[in-house]
Amino acid sequence: MNEADQHTTETLDERPTRGNRLYPRVTSFRSRRGSLTDPQQQCWDRRWPELGKEVGDDPLDVEAWFGRSAPLVLEIGSGTGTAALAMAGAEPEVNLIAVEVYKPGIAQTLQGIERSYDSDAPIENLRILRGDAVEVLEKMLTTESLTGVRVFFPDPWPKARHHKRRLLQAPTFALIADRLKPGGVLHVATDHADYAEAIAEVGDAEPRLARFSGTAPIGLERPVTKFEDKAHQVGSAINEFVWGKIGA
Ligand SMILES: C[S@@+](CC[C@H](N)C(=O)[O-])C[C@H]1O[C@@H](n2cnc3c(N)ncnc32)[C@H](O)[C@@H]1O
Repeated sequence: MNEADQHTTETLDERPTRGNRLYPRVTSFRSRRGSLTDPQQQCWDRRWPELGKEVGDDPLDVEAWFGRSAPLVLEIGSGTGTAALAMAGAEPEVNLIAVEVYKPGIAQTLQGIERSYDSDAPIENLRILRGDAVEVLEKMLTTESLTGVRVFFPDPWPKARHHKRRLLQAPTFALIADRLKPGGVLHVATDHADYAEAIAEVGDAEPRLARFSGTAPIGLERPVTKFEDKAHQVGSAINEFVWGKIGA
């Protein structure tokens, strides 16, 4: 993904999303045009039918899609897939679903999976959903189905009038808390100080979550993404949070 374009090429759609939702909201993502290069399109044509699905209204048959039963982790807003690819490779025993709306980012993730097939560590445990992660949580995944949720560098929507677009607000925390199994973890990282404060406050207020300490059921080691690297270069501190679902 061309992260430099993220804050410049968006078309803001302020209309509340309608339909069968748990709560009315505006979306946390921008409508961005993004065409695929020829190699990306060719990789998409080869791999998407097996490795990807559009977000829809029906519950996901996760076991059928992965061909096995295993702890399930959801990464929300996976961008170009840097973290998803590295973490899937590091945790072959986990089923990992990356959700992203940005098609070129998904195409790069598919290319990463395909490249791994030529290595001695092919990535077999990563699938991709294209669309709104909130809809995935609401409609496609069931209560206590997830062992982990990852949200790395969610769009900060820095202007006060755009704060309503932030992904990590109380309704999303509540939804994540419901979908996590007891003992499951929510892992969040942000480079935006003001968003970090809001995330900490709202996450700590969710009664089914508590700050996590101990051995997590999933890996917490993140690779540095291009996006995070830029944050380091401009001196932004990275705030990282891990909550566990209580009741294990
Ligand atoms: C700032 S980027 C970070 C990408 C990546 N996690 C990284 O660290 O490089 C945030 C990403 O979240 C995606 N996103 C935002 N809201 C989303 C949603 N509701 N569902 C799926 N993806 C979303 C955006 O398209 C964007 O690619």
